[in-house]
Amino acid sequence: MTKFLRFFKILPLFLLFISCEKEEEAEGVIVIPPTKIQAKFEMSISSTDQNVLLLDNKTTGTGDFTSEWDFGQGGSLVLDQPGIEEVRFDNDGTYSVRLIVTNAAGLTVDEKTVIVDNTAGGICPNGVCGSTNSAILKDAATTFLVGNITRASRINAGGQHTDLLKSTFSTITSEYEMKMDQMYPSEGNYNFSAADAIVNFGVNNGINVHGHALIWHNATPDWVENYSGTDAEFEAMVKDYITTTVTRYKGKVASWDVVNEALEDGSGHPLRNSVFRQKMGDDYIKKCFQWARDADPDCLLFYNDYNMASSPTKRAAMFNIVDSLGDLIDGVGAQMHISYNGPSASNIQAVADGTVSRGKILHFSELDIRANPNNDQTVLTGDRANAQKAKFKEVVKIYNSIPLDNKYALTVWGVRDNESWLLNFWGHIDWPLMYDDNYNKKPAYDGFLEGLE
Ligand code: XIL
Repeated sequence: MTKFLRFFKILPLFLLFISCEKEEEAEGVIVIPPTKIQAKFEMSISSTDQNVLLLDNKTTGTGDFTSEWDFGQGGSLVLDQPGIEEVRFDNDGTYSVRLIVTNAAGLTVDEKTVIVDNTAGGICPNGVCGSTNSAILKDAATTFLVGNITRASRINAGGQHTDLLKSTFSTITSEYEMKMDQMYPSEGNYNFSAADAIVNFGVNNGINVHGHALIWHNATPDWVENYSGTDAEFEAMVKDYITTTVTRYKGKVASWDVVNEALEDGSGHPLRNSVFRQKMGDDYIKKCFQWARDADPDCLLFYNDYNMASSPTKRAAMFNIVDSLGDLIDGVGAQMHISYNGPSASNIQAVADGTVSRGKILHFSELDIRANPNNDQTVLTGDRANAQKAKFKEVVKIYNSIPLDNKYALTVWGVRDNESWLLNFWGHIDWPLMYDDNYNKKPAYDGFLEGLE
C-alpha cells in the first residue's frame, strides 16, 4: 500500500524529466555536465635562489576551469599563468600557499605550507629547516679529526667546495683518485697528477691527508687483473707499486688504507679470490702491509672494510685479519655506510670495543646515513631528516667516547647529498650527507655536533 502511494508521488517528477529531455532533444542542445576537477600543485625551490618558490599547477579535470593562487602573503588572488609561477618569499615565517580552482560544478583547493628561515638558507625544503648552528665541526671535535672526501676536479675548480673543506674539515680522503687504477693505469707508467693535486691541497692548507686505498679489488687496472707475467713478477710489481706510492707521499700522507674490502660477504667471510690472493697467496695482505711499513715507518696503516657494524660475523673475520697482522697494522677503518634505521647502536659500539680491546686506532672512514634505504620516499621528510640526525648523533657519540689513544678520524663520504656515490650505487634518490644540494647544513649537521656534547 505505501509502496504504491510512493510510486504515484514520484511519477510526476519522472514525467517532467522525460518531457524536459524531449524538449532539449527537440532543440538539438546537448548538455554536458561539468567534469570533476581536482586542484593540485607541486612546489620546489629554485636551484639558483633559495628564496624563490616554483609553483607548478597540476590540476586534473577537463572543461573550463579557472585557477587562482593565494601565495599566503596577503593581497588578492592571482590568476594562474601558463608555465611555472615563480614567487619570492623574503621574510622568515610560515606561509600557506593555496591553489583555488573553480568551474561550473564548484570549487576545489590544494594547500601547502611553506616555511622560510633565512638563517637556514631561505625556504626550507619540504618544511625541513637546515641547521643554523654556526659551530664548526673541526673546532667542535677537539679529540679527533673530522674528514670529508674530494676530487682533483673539485680542488682545481675551487670555490664553495674547497672553501667548505678548508673551513670545516681537518682531514681529507681522495674519493677515487688514489686507487690503483688511477695511479697505475699501465705497466711501468704511474700517473700521480690527480693524487698530487689532492695531497698538495691538504698539505698547503694544513689539512691531514688519509690515503685511500692501495689495494682494492674494485679499482684494480685491467692490466693487473689480466697480468701476463709470472707470480713472482706480479708480486715484484705490487711491491714496486706500494713502495713507489707510499714513498712519494712520505711525510705528506699521514695514513693509508693498505687493503680495502678483502673479505667476502658470503658465509664464513673468506678472503675474496682477488688477483692479489690468486697470485700472491693468502698472506698477500701481510706482504702489502710490510711493504707499506718499510716505505714509510711513520705512516699509520689501516685495513678498511664495510658492514663492520651490521654483520657481527664479518666483523669477527675482519678482527682475525687484524690479529694476524700484529704490529704491522695500526688501525681499523670501518666504512660506516649505514641507514637511519640501522645497524643498532650496540653493533656500532661492538666495532669500537673490538678495536679498542686490541689497542688499535679506529677510523670511521666512510660515513653516510641513508634516509631512503627502501626507496619509499620522494623527498626528505621532516621525520626522516630527524631520524638521520639522531643516527649521526649516535655514531659521533660512540666515536667520541672511545679512549683518546684509539682515536684518529671520522670521515664523512661526501659533502652535498647530490654528490653522494650512493645515488648511482643504489640507483635511486637519497639524502645521505650533512649538506643539501645547495650547501645548506641539514639537521644531520646538528646531530654531528650534538654527538660531541
Ligand atoms: C666509491 C666512490 O665514491 C666512487 O666515486 C667510485 O666510483 C667508486 O668508489 N667503499 C670504498 C670507497 O671503499 O672507495 C667507495 O668509493 C665506496 C665504497
